[in-house]
Amino acid sequence: MFAPGQWPGYYSRAEGVHVWDLDGNKYTDMSINAAGACVLGFADRDVDSAVHAAIDNGTNCSLNCPEEVELGDLMCEIHPWADMVRYARGGGESMAIAVRIARAYAKKDRLAFCGYHGWSDWYLAANLARGDNLDGHLLPGLDPAGVPRVLAGTAFPFRYNHTEELEAIVKENKNELAAIVMEPIRDYYPTPGFLERVREIADEIDAILVFDEVTSAMRMNAGGVHLRLGISPDIAVFAKAIGNGYAMGAIIGKEHVMQAAQSTFISSTNWTERIGPVAALATIRKHRRVAAAEHLVALGKRVQDGWREAAVSAGLQIHVSGIPPLSHFSFEHEKGQAMMTLFTQMMLGKGFLASGKFYAMYAHQFSDVESYLAATTDVFQAIADAAKKGEVEKRLMGPVAHSGFHRLA
Ligand SMILES: Cc1ncc(COP(=O)(O)O)c(C=O)c1O
Repeated sequence: MFAPGQWPGYYSRAEGVHVWDLDGNKYTDMSINAAGACVLGFADRDVDSAVHAAIDNGTNCSLNCPEEVELGDLMCEIHPWADMVRYARGGGESMAIAVRIARAYAKKDRLAFCGYHGWSDWYLAANLARGDNLDGHLLPGLDPAGVPRVLAGTAFPFRYNHTEELEAIVKENKNELAAIVMEPIRDYYPTPGFLERVREIADEIDAILVFDEVTSAMRMNAGGVHLRLGISPDIAVFAKAIGNGYAMGAIIGKEHVMQAAQSTFISSTNWTERIGPVAALATIRKHRRVAAAEHLVALGKRVQDGWREAAVSAGLQIHVSGIPPLSHFSFEHEKGQAMMTLFTQMMLGKGFLASGKFYAMYAHQFSDVESYLAATTDVFQAIADAAKKGEVEKRLMGPVAHSGFHRLA
């Protein structure tokens, strides 16, 4: 995905912000921090020691672990609008559970959604109707091979901040929509009134509002970012960062909605193992204790500013987006993807895992950011020089990276 044939691919050890590849090369990770999972840092000592203790006491048996009750209480304390919780381990499966509960509650089939929500049939069904429906939703071009064709016409995408697109879906499918599914925030801040109007529409048409917080949670605060935005959903879904790299997913919701889970079948053996809840409790508690969000936001702001400064000094046009802890940039140039590949290639040479995304970890120090930005400034100069001479591709030691998940999908 980043610099084919050059990106190391496999690791032997990861700790803090550092990763060692199989040849013993050490890198500072200024990229996607385990696809956003390790928000505190790799092999975080506090989370790991809680997990070690859980391992010593048995992580799975015929009874339930009390940590799942403790975690449920904590999630409902942090999100006071929520009363009940279900657990899974991955983000995509947690979203599938949320959608199942919403459909069971509403007794309707169709969905309006915005953004990326994982690999499940309910989501990829959007691409059965028209191959480009998911374009503009983070991972464009996802192929729905293997998704039953009968699901065509069950999931309809709208773009963030485009209330008129949601309204058009509602008009077409008024009494059929079980849920509106979206991330509360991702690349752009909500325009005034957008989330309020989505909430209003959901209520008007008796649809469940599901906030996918799989990636957005634990960045701007120790919980769902919707708390910061002032809009409560009916269901919110968490995974990734709540376990700091240990598999954990949680679906929280209002009692009358969550009770619908009893009328359907949602269960899996390892959803009651102990490591996930123990890791989540340790992660959330540490996140709160050390005020991790403040540090993540400050790091992200400095990186965004540094990208802009480096681009100006090199005479490059870039586009910067994202909430600070989940920052993105792209080169605004016809060779943008090749330039990004060259960026990764050259940053690898300077000891950084780097791409167009910087996902902040609590373990990042400002000194890491400054070293990274100094390297970025040099590399941007070299990229500008390559672009001027029409040599961007020539300077690559491998193919141009593909964009999105095409190869994986
Ligand atoms: C918003 C959102 N929802 C769902 C998912 C899927 O989560 P997972 O990869 O854990 O299945 C992701 C993963 O990137 C995501 O960003």
